[in-house]
Amino acid sequence: MLVLENLEVRYGKIRALRGVSLTVPDHAVVAVLGPNGAGKSSMLKAISGTVRPFAGRILWNGTDISRMAPHKILRLGIAHVPEGRAMIAPLTVEENLQMGAYITPRSEIDDMQDRMLELFPPLKARLSTTAGSLSGGEQQMLAIARGLMSKPKLIAIDEPSMGLAPAVANDVLAALAAIVQTGTSVLLVEQNAALALRLAHDVVVIGHGEVQAAGTSEELGHDILAAYVE
Ligand SMILES: Nc1ncnc2c1ncn2[C@@H]1O[C@H](COP(=O)(O)OP(=O)(O)OP(=O)(O)O)[C@@H](O)[C@H]1O
Ligand SMILES: [Mg+2]
Repeated sequence: MLVLENLEVRYGKIRALRGVSLTVPDHAVVAVLGPNGAGKSSMLKAISGTVRPFAGRILWNGTDISRMAPHKILRLGIAHVPEGRAMIAPLTVEENLQMGAYITPRSEIDDMQDRMLELFPPLKARLSTTAGSLSGGEQQMLAIARGLMSKPKLIAIDEPSMGLAPAVANDVLAALAAIVQTGTSVLLVEQNAALALRLAHDVVVIGHGEVQAAGTSEELGHDILAAYVE
C-alpha cells in the first residue's frame, strides 16, 4: 500500500504540490485527474524519487521512502513510466525491455519478456525494431512493458493515452486492467477522464497542487465527466 501524507513539492518559489494526501491500496487502480499544471507529474516524480519532496511523507508498506534514491525505490517495487514515454530511441524494442529488467533475476527475464508480449501483442513482431520507429501506441506499450520488466508491485503511469487514437488508447488502458489481475497496483495519471473512470475504482482530482475531490469512480464519475465536457 502506498500512502502520501501532506506531500509538498516545490521548484524554487513554485509550489507544485501543496499538501496532497492519498492512498493506493494493493491490487487497485487509482486514477489521478486534473488540468495542465495541476501537479500530477510532480506527484509521480516524488513517488519514484526523481524529485525530492519539500515536506510531507511517502510511505510504501509502512516504510518512509520520501527521501530515498530512485534505484532503491525501484528495488522496493515501485516503477514509474514518465510522461512522454522516455524510451531509448536508437535501441531495439528487445533492448529497451532488457533495460527495464536490470534488477530482475536473470533466470526470470525471458519469462517476463514472454508475458509482456502476451500483454502487448503488437510488440511481438517489433522486437528487433528500434524504439524510435514505433507508432505512438506501440511506444506507449513498450514504455509500460519496460516498467513492468522490473516486476513492480506498483506502477505509476503518466498520461498513457496522450496523443493516441481512441481505439489505441483503449487497448493500452485495457492492458492495465490485466496488470492489476496479476497483483500489481496502478497509479494512473490521465487527461482522458472517461477512460480513467472506466478502469479505476478510486479517483483523485487535483488542481493547483491540492486534492479537489476524492472518492470512488461511481461517486464522482458523473460530476467529473460533466466538468470535463466544455
Ligand atoms: N522542473 C520544473 N521547474 C520549475 N517548475 C516546474 C518544473 N516542473 C513542473 N513545474 C511547475 O510545477 C507545476 C506542476 O507541474 P506538473 O508537471 O507536475 O503538472 P501536471 O499536472 O503534470 O501538468 P500536465 O498536465 O501539463 O502534464 C506547474 O506550475 C509547472 O510549471
Ligand atoms: Mg504532467
